[in-house]
Amino acid sequence: MVVQVLEETQRRKWDSSDDALFYAQPRFVQHLDAAFRQRLTELYRERIPAGAAVLDLMASWVSHLPEEVTYASVIGHGLNAEELAANPRLQRHWLQNLNRDQRLPLESASIDATLIVAGWQYLQYPEAVAAELLRITRPGGQLIVAFSNRMFFTKAPQIWADGSDRDHLAYVAEVLIAQGWPRPTLIAEQTRAPGLPGLIGAKGDPFFAVIASRPA
Ligand SMILES: C[S@@+](CC[C@H](N)C(=O)[O-])C[C@H]1O[C@@H](n2cnc3c(N)ncnc32)[C@H](O)[C@@H]1O
Repeated sequence: MVVQVLEETQRRKWDSSDDALFYAQPRFVQHLDAAFRQRLTELYRERIPAGAAVLDLMASWVSHLPEEVTYASVIGHGLNAEELAANPRLQRHWLQNLNRDQRLPLESASIDATLIVAGWQYLQYPEAVAAELLRITRPGGQLIVAFSNRMFFTKAPQIWADGSDRDHLAYVAEVLIAQGWPRPTLIAEQTRAPGLPGLIGAKGDPFFAVIASRPA
């Protein structure tokens, strides 16, 4: 059963046209800076064991998984076929607009780790997605939702567009807990720009993550 957390007004976004149109053209860009990406890869290295079945939900042409680790499978999902085809880590992928249909075409208890990077902020029905993620996650498996402080503003629902970084962390946690996920671990860190600029104080994109584990 899906427990609703948002009011309908909080699901609204400036650009209400089909998200598939917004993502129709591939964007071969990095959405997050090198400092953020490095921190994320380090987190994956720590948390996701070799041999895991991994789902990269709301993915693009880049993978943040550590290159040296071998997983049983890496399945990708997103909205642009060209971007997903160019992602070197994905063994297979599918396209699905999660603001139209939240049912995931995956077996129950089949995934060890689901990753969502700079994606949750575009979900208008995160409750139903979170419930589906709990269904497909194996006991002992986990969900890692990572994001920074930027977004495609017109595509973010009001709940995200109006919130602060701290609000975002609390909101993701609240939606997960409402669907039966145990209380997640929250990470909020400033990053340091790579190389010399970092050594003299330059900052990178701030790093936020919500990590939830399905009880074993
Ligand atoms: C800012 S990009 C981040 C991509 C990738 N996770 C990364 O780290 O580079 C946002 C991604 O969210 C996904 N997305 C946005 N709206 C979506 C929707 N309505 N349904 C499914 N996926 C969506 C798309 O795959 C898009 O590439």
